[in-house]
Amino acid sequence: MRAIPFLTRAKMTVNNDLLAEVADVLRSGPRLAVLTGSGISAESGIPTFRGKEGLWKEFRAEDLATPAAFERDPRLVWEWYDWRRGIIGTREPNPAHLVLARWEKRFPGFALITQNVDGLHRKAGSGAVLELHGNIWETRCTSEGTVAESPETPLPEIPPRCPACGALLRPNVVWFGEPLPAEILQKAYEASGACGVMIVVGTSALVQPAASLPLLAAGRGARIVEINPDATPLTAAADFSLRGKAGEILPAIDKLLVSGGAR
Ligand code: OAD
Repeated sequence: MRAIPFLTRAKMTVNNDLLAEVADVLRSGPRLAVLTGSGISAESGIPTFRGKEGLWKEFRAEDLATPAAFERDPRLVWEWYDWRRGIIGTREPNPAHLVLARWEKRFPGFALITQNVDGLHRKAGSGAVLELHGNIWETRCTSEGTVAESPETPLPEIPPRCPACGALLRPNVVWFGEPLPAEILQKAYEASGACGVMIVVGTSALVQPAASLPLLAAGRGARIVEINPDATPLTAAADFSLRGKAGEILPAIDKLLVSGGAR
């Protein structure tokens, strides 16, 4: 991993020329990887974690998103996840998710890596999504490890139990202090190391190991495009920092790609 330079080398103002430049880079047909965070779902009405009204402003992660919290009070943890599932279940993918679903077909070798557990990439039609932090619509048996789809909201029983063995079920998500699913993380490292361009959308780039993926890509020579209304620790390492909303910027780039991008 390379060190983040002190001076930003990103081109920062979002204007049509900059969007056209990014579209040109993409038109050259690079191997494309995209890393998303909760900001991509903000325009779908799903709260982010660290923003003004972010979940971690109102709730303590230690009480709700750690193995110790679940051991202490599985009911409390499940009530919080059931509440979140209730919100997410009524939300739809926004134009940013939809563009990325189309790009899976447009770019050979395309890889979509997400930190989100909301399932909106899949709902938008993305077929191969590397869900680094799991999926809130799946449960995992705490005894047998069996993963099952869990679409029902609200849950009929809290905390839910495994229909096969009666043990507690847990949300199939990664909590603080837990390792990421090894196979998915490995694929994410491979995709990051192999891409020619990585677009990083809607993440504060504060949570490891996800935040290291763009640096791995950059270290291997990939160009980094960041889409975020705010600067992040990654901004300094980005070649293009597009300051704005994912649901506006990604469709604008897509339009340039589709139209042939006359400037
Ligand atoms: P954060 O809440 O830390 O960051 C969200 C980012 O999205 C911020 O940088 C915002 O500026 C940006 N953002 C907000 N609205 C946006 C929009 N319309 N378009 C583009 N960007 C926008 O969320 P994450 O980086 O996803 O992990 O957080 C990473 C992980 O920390 C999460 O997966 C979760 C959390 O704790 C676990 O629970 C394990």
